[in-house]
Amino acid sequence: CSTSKTSKLAYCIKGTFVHSTDSSPMEILQDHIMGVNSNGKIEFFENARKQVELAKKWRFSESDIRELGSHEFCMPGMVDTHIHASQYSFSGTALDLSLLDWLDKYTFPTERKYKEAEFAKTIYSSIVRRTLRNGTTTACYFATIYTDSSLLLAEIANNYGQRAFVGKVCMDINNCAANYKETTDESIAETERFIKEFLERKYCRVKPIITPRFAVSCSEELLQELGELAKIHGTHIQSHISEAVGEVESVKTLFPNYKHYTDVYDKSKLLTDKTVMAHGCYLSDEELAIFRERGAAISHCPNSNISLCSGHLDVRKVLKHKVKIGLGTDVAGGYCSSMLDAIRRAIDTSKVLYIQYELGISMINNALLGQSVPGRYDSTVYKMGQKIDCSFLHTGSSHSNQQTMPTSKTFSIQKEKYTALSYKEAFRLATLGGSQALNIDDVTGNFQIGKEFDAILVSPCVPGGPFDVFADDTFEDVVQKFLNLGDDRNIKGVYVAGQQVVPLPNA
Ligand code: GUN
Ligand code: FE
Repeated sequence: CSTSKTSKLAYCIKGTFVHSTDSSPMEILQDHIMGVNSNGKIEFFENARKQVELAKKWRFSESDIRELGSHEFCMPGMVDTHIHASQYSFSGTALDLSLLDWLDKYTFPTERKYKEAEFAKTIYSSIVRRTLRNGTTTACYFATIYTDSSLLLAEIANNYGQRAFVGKVCMDINNCAANYKETTDESIAETERFIKEFLERKYCRVKPIITPRFAVSCSEELLQELGELAKIHGTHIQSHISEAVGEVESVKTLFPNYKHYTDVYDKSKLLTDKTVMAHGCYLSDEELAIFRERGAAISHCPNSNISLCSGHLDVRKVLKHKVKIGLGTDVAGGYCSSMLDAIRRAIDTSKVLYIQYELGISMINNALLGQSVPGRYDSTVYKMGQKIDCSFLHTGSSHSNQQTMPTSKTFSIQKEKYTALSYKEAFRLATLGGSQALNIDDVTGNFQIGKEFDAILVSPCVPGGPFDVFADDTFEDVVQKFLNLGDDRNIKGVYVAGQQVVPLPNA
């Protein structure tokens, strides 16, 4: 992975740039000029007033500048913090079951097919091409339990120029239905081989990630060994946590000596500042405090949460705990591989929660789970044994009209205003938030000088495109229209570390 110490200017882009910073979810910088150097890094980013001065210093001429059209803009490439490359073949189908049944009926039988290299190559090439075309410059992938085809995914991502994490999935218990599992020893030995062979290939922007599927699929011994391996090799870690009620119940049964789901991973040293856990819909305040302490992140996968009827993640609550958070498509539990969809579903989910708070439903739901949540009504106090009409609740697979408070606590609901996520905040989650969640925000996520140029060029007005722009639209309107209505027809170019990766070669 070569970067030279003396970098030359490679090219300039002039026009409107849209990105996020810690202090602002969306900055729209019109009439700016950016210089990208031969190492793929942002060398300068200034108001175009300074063009003459910059041209002198960096010795570029008008012909070295790519000038964007009047409605066009450049934004950071999107970061998909959780996606199963191996499930792409059935995305858009098989959404009629809840998580654990869905895994048994559709997912494990599909993932078994990846033992065959040819099959794996076809699907993995398709998902890498598809996500790049959709503007995903960084993807954090789950592959399958098979080491060799997981290495193939890494090679494919590298060949197409995507920034990626690739995980060989580990699972040694409870997966008999499709005969898709490994022994504990195999899982550990194959993970070691995976990391060793991966690192020997010395890819610049594709890295291995330790991947226990989730606590339901992993023995205590396997989790602990994987925690050790992550520590030895300094690798990233990914898994699932608290996605669905049935799963949370299973973890309670399988790991009776642990305080909660988070404790299972934490005791195995799987919660670090390089960890990203998908979902987290049912994490308590206490668990989120542990995430914050360890620097571990959450991948919010709203399409999947809705499609598998798993639940909703309250992003406001996660942000309040100052836990790092990004967005994930979670293909194929989430049916869409585009991060634009993840942005839209994140906003939808947040608005649903807002409605629930307004009606007081969410408070009761969380109170039943033994958690306190902010809400609108301050007069409601729930006591142990108190019957609550829960006909509007759906907890797991059991429907009931009456539920009993599960603890002796008295729940007093505080009055607090709830605000839904704005499109600007969702944009930040999909870009800078994702890079922070994956602990690569020193390299990518926005247009800070010195970061690598991971970007997409958006052209809102394309013939036959998915939306229209009118004369009285502000630039903010145009950006919002793209985020809500746009698709790959509007994405004219995708860059990773300064290299153009879309249009794809042979596309
Ligand atoms: N939990 C364990 N495995 C999976 C998976 O493949 N998809 C989702 N959404 N959740 C999981
Ligand atoms: Fe997942």
